[in-house]
Amino acid sequence: MGKLAITGGEPVRKTPFTPWPIATKEEFAALEDAFTSLKWGGQPFPGKYADSFAKKFAAFQTAKYGQCVSTGTVAIEACLKAIQIRPGDEVIVPAYTWEGTVGPVLLLNAVPVFVDVDPETYCLDTKLIEQAITPKTKAILPVHLGMRFADMDDILRIARKHDLKVIEDCAHAHGAMWNGQGAGSMGDLGAFSFQSSKLITSGEGGAVITNTLEYMELVQSYINAGRASLTDQYHHRIIGFNHRLSELQAAVLGPQLERLPQQAATRGKNVKHFESRMQKLAAIKLLKPDLRITRLAPYGFMFKYFADKANDIPRAAFVGALQLEGIPCDGLFYEPVYKSSLFPLKPEDFPALSWGREKPLDLRNMYSCPEADRAAYHEAVWFPHYLFLGSAADVDSIADAIEKVLGASEELRGLDHKAIRNQRLGRADRES
Ligand SMILES: Cc1ncc(COP(=O)(O)O)c(C=O)c1O
Repeated sequence: MGKLAITGGEPVRKTPFTPWPIATKEEFAALEDAFTSLKWGGQPFPGKYADSFAKKFAAFQTAKYGQCVSTGTVAIEACLKAIQIRPGDEVIVPAYTWEGTVGPVLLLNAVPVFVDVDPETYCLDTKLIEQAITPKTKAILPVHLGMRFADMDDILRIARKHDLKVIEDCAHAHGAMWNGQGAGSMGDLGAFSFQSSKLITSGEGGAVITNTLEYMELVQSYINAGRASLTDQYHHRIIGFNHRLSELQAAVLGPQLERLPQQAATRGKNVKHFESRMQKLAAIKLLKPDLRITRLAPYGFMFKYFADKANDIPRAAFVGALQLEGIPCDGLFYEPVYKSSLFPLKPEDFPALSWGREKPLDLRNMYSCPEADRAAYHEAVWFPHYLFLGSAADVDSIADAIEKVLGASEELRGLDHKAIRNQRLGRADRES
């Protein structure tokens, strides 16, 4: 028996962290009200709770208009419909993100153009965007990943120069601010997810925000079965679907929005404390801070793990050992989307991508994004946000466990790393 929990020792942490999601009497009262109203669905449109939450949420994110939708993936799809993405158009996306960022692009028969991520932030590398632009490029779809922002100053400048639209994937960025502006309010549209792991959740759900009424009308129409939107100023008619959020879901969102600023402050303070303890460890590197992030919204805290500075213990073994010390964390949280097993790209399934092109497109062989590969397969370690909602002692237990595992790396030698990886890091355990 060794010192580490993975070799039979006592784990550092035996008690759970702050549970997520948090259900208080405020959620319960709102849910009861929605329940007894007997208006459970999204019709008549918009429902009372969905409408009032969408308005408050848009204002909170410093945007003019907001609309609740059924999921974050649908939010992205509705944004792409609003900017009228057509088959064969190209949309620039980061290679390192959840597959749901990119799926909607393909489902509209547009071409996702994968651009590598900046190793300092794991967000879209803005230095690489211009070389990916072609006459078919219509939009840039940055993701504000984990706890950082894609550089919106660069992205907006490039978009203006090349006449491109910008859709911000803010699934990780509820409450995050860049230079005092809310995530999602700087591009043409912003898409949010309220899936159960997110910083605000209705179990499943999402929202779109924008400052442009025409876009909001198109989004409303798209998610409400093609019906004219309430203002109907632009008289657009599109084929739409029922992607409305139900009132039972929308009811629980309001109280969480009230609590979000306080939670952001707590997470921010705890993250600072955690970083101060991580700074001393040679095998760990923190992501680069950015003073333009004026409110941090750490959905997932990430750092880089360097196996070569940890006795060559692979990340999977480090993460597996940490998990058994009682610390929820993940290594292969996201794969580079263009290589992902959840993203099968068979050209015969997407013939419209090749319309008007000389040669058929096969996206499987078109991209090489080494930084995304390095993050996904070797370096990134993710910790869920609820670990940082508790006390300084909670944070210390995470840091203690990391120090313990790094200090006992000899014990990890000789263990079957592949088995640990399969046991602890199965794709089935991942989000969504
Ligand atoms: C970065 C990112 N984009 C998009 C989505 C899609 O959201 P949803 O799962 O609500 O469809 C998610 C979350 O799952 C996400 O993490």
